[in-house]
Amino acid sequence: MNNDITVNPMTMPLHGEITIPSDKSISHRSIIIGALTNGKVKISNFSICADCLSTLNIYKNLGLEVEFLDEKTLIINSKNGLTPPDKMLDCGNSGTSMRLITGVLSGQKFNSELFGDESLSKRPMKRIIEPLTLMGARIESNDYKAPLKIKGSKLTAIKYESKIASAQVKSSILLAGLFASGETTVVEPYLSRNHSELMLKYFDSDIKEEKFDNKYLTSIRSSFLLPKDLYIPGDISSAAFFMVAAAIVKGSDVVIKNVGLNETRTGIIDVMKQMNADIEILDLRILNNEPVGDIRVKYSPDLKGIEIKGEIIPRLIDEIPIITVLALNAEGKTVIKDASDLKNKESDRINSLAFELNKMNADIIPTQDGFIINSNGKKQLSGGAELNCYHDHRLIMSFYVASLVSKKQNKINDFKWVNTSFPEFLGLFNRLGV
Ligand code: S3P
Repeated sequence: MNNDITVNPMTMPLHGEITIPSDKSISHRSIIIGALTNGKVKISNFSICADCLSTLNIYKNLGLEVEFLDEKTLIINSKNGLTPPDKMLDCGNSGTSMRLITGVLSGQKFNSELFGDESLSKRPMKRIIEPLTLMGARIESNDYKAPLKIKGSKLTAIKYESKIASAQVKSSILLAGLFASGETTVVEPYLSRNHSELMLKYFDSDIKEEKFDNKYLTSIRSSFLLPKDLYIPGDISSAAFFMVAAAIVKGSDVVIKNVGLNETRTGIIDVMKQMNADIEILDLRILNNEPVGDIRVKYSPDLKGIEIKGEIIPRLIDEIPIITVLALNAEGKTVIKDASDLKNKESDRINSLAFELNKMNADIIPTQDGFIINSNGKKQLSGGAELNCYHDHRLIMSFYVASLVSKKQNKINDFKWVNTSFPEFLGLFNRLGV
């Protein structure tokens, strides 16, 4: 694939039916949690994006047997448990790999070392090092950043109140909790995505979730996990680009099949409905404890700006870049608050997004914890810009969708970073007529 691409404005509607590749968060967990079953797990519809392949390769280095039956179906066999790696473990661009796997490795009887690429090496790891250390983990870092040197230790359960609602922090502690004596509890201010909890339940672990005093508590005890087969639904965070594109490209009508609709991830649907988008869910069903359905979105000429803040933020944290593009096509002001953790994603998404989109005449004011986006819904983005992506896949894909509704073509640099989560991205847009 070309490293830099130019994207022309769409002159035709987007039309058709597509199936989105599988959920990245659940794919990571299928390996990380599946490998704790000490048995065979068949994983169907695994995501072959770069991030999930980082997790899979790490686990091969930790002794997991992996057999691919076809491109997206594999059998993992963890009958020998985890074994000491013979090299440093490469997390690539993937924060989920690094944070979750550190939880598991902290409680092993061997030492290990995790590293990542330039972007991952800048991301904060204190959020996991601090609680894991309280449990007895011994982790050396570069001033709380990667690389992380982990000395396998005996862990003790803790009750940990996290200041942020982060599924990566919660999952890291819960996974360490499986190797600790006693009951480990994580308390969150808002509920972050709960795929780890649902999968741990599916494999019969001793885990419980409660809401108390307006806080969310998840507790786990060391348990035997029973191996069972897994099917992974499509990724709503990938579907989001097509949902927004269909809502803003004139005349469009798109059906996205087989999308994971876990409530901790569907904030984008609530926001689109509130903004007046023409969106409906079809054929809702449950697979391995996870809700799945199809999403139909039609061109929505009367989008309006709204305020997005508080409890909904973790339910749409990864969709904020593309929601910003939606807001630029809505009438009135959209305000996004309580999202300061965007600065700690693959790039500082608050500043990078505003800076790049403003190059094409958008009116986005970055704030401490989000954005103020002004739009009258009629003024088209000018285009004619050269957009940088800061090694951040979700910025690239948002710029691509913004370019479909700009007046002039845009150039997007380093497009290859799309492979972090979504190698099939361009192919699927081509199927819809781009
Ligand atoms: C993820 C959790 C989110 C999200 C990330 C994937 C996960 O991070 O932004 O892309 O798979 O647990 P936080 O929960 O740490 O905000």
